[in-house]
Amino acid sequence: MKTTKEVKEFIAKKTEELRAKLTGKRVLCALSGGVDSAVTAAIIHKAVPGCLVCVYVDHGLMRKNESEEIMETFKDNLGVNVIKVDAAKRFLSALRHVIEPERKRKIIGEQFIRVFELEAKKIAGEGKVDFLAQGTIAPDVTESGIGGAHLKSHHNVGGLPDNVDFEIVEPLRELFKDEVRLVGLELGLPEKIVYRQPFPGPGLGVRIIGEITEKKLDIVREADYIFRDEITKAKLDRKIWQYFAILAEGRSVGVKNGKRLHGRIIALRAVHSVDAREATFVHIPYDVLTKVSERITRDIEPVCRVVYDITDKPPASIEWE
Ligand code: XMP
Repeated sequence: MKTTKEVKEFIAKKTEELRAKLTGKRVLCALSGGVDSAVTAAIIHKAVPGCLVCVYVDHGLMRKNESEEIMETFKDNLGVNVIKVDAAKRFLSALRHVIEPERKRKIIGEQFIRVFELEAKKIAGEGKVDFLAQGTIAPDVTESGIGGAHLKSHHNVGGLPDNVDFEIVEPLRELFKDEVRLVGLELGLPEKIVYRQPFPGPGLGVRIIGEITEKKLDIVREADYIFRDEITKAKLDRKIWQYFAILAEGRSVGVKNGKRLHGRIIALRAVHSVDAREATFVHIPYDVLTKVSERITRDIEPVCRVVYDITDKPPASIEWE
């Protein structure tokens, strides 16, 4: 599916199917800000306006302005019924003193399910919920069931929840990512959402090494924002597969405003990849890296050092964790 005609035909066919299935029903959908769940919600909303209730769980680990953008797109622009759950405090307190990356992932995943289920129950209390919409796409279908070493627990809103009594609806099951994007654009979703780079379910939680605190989140969020801003200004945003900032562990000595400082270290990572299984680091021009480093050390008080990750995957993973 590549041409506009084919995309339109897909939307028309799906819309008809969804109408037959969902008219008069209530559908619940977890929005993550990612393209798959966004397009899922948009196509269901188009097919049967008013049937959909979306839940967006803000775990406090999102990037700068992300929650506002999600709410603005769905609630204000598309008129979708979205409930935003501010659960940052709950997640942060569950994560207090936790250092081990796999524990962090488990906690974030579990909290997510709990918050989502609580919300689902509230919604169901106002009338029966018949379907849970999921943003499953073709690679998710083919990859599930394939064995292999357990490397880390992935958290995706796509897999939720498993003990609630809903039927599942997955309108994008036969599509690949590039096709999902074309459908999203055709449905009027903004490019910001349609071309959003991959972002892990546990969010900035996997980009802070060591304990997650509010202060550290502020640092990594701002550094990530500056990095993204300069990449966009350099018109590299659509050319790089994934790029982000990490708050490294420990501290390093520096000098700021004439004073010695035992400051924070920000690492920058940018990779090219096709499917995230392998990746190569991107040769970002030095002048762009220079601007990023200058802005980060100037604007983020505790940071005195910025480093660039020059490792491919393998041996390194994309995320630092
Ligand atoms: P790694 O670090 O394993 O990451 O090389 C591969 C890709 O997966 C993304 N990632 C996730 N995506 N839920 C997701 O939806 C997750 O829990 C998760 N963890 C990592 C990562 O950003 C990279 O694109």
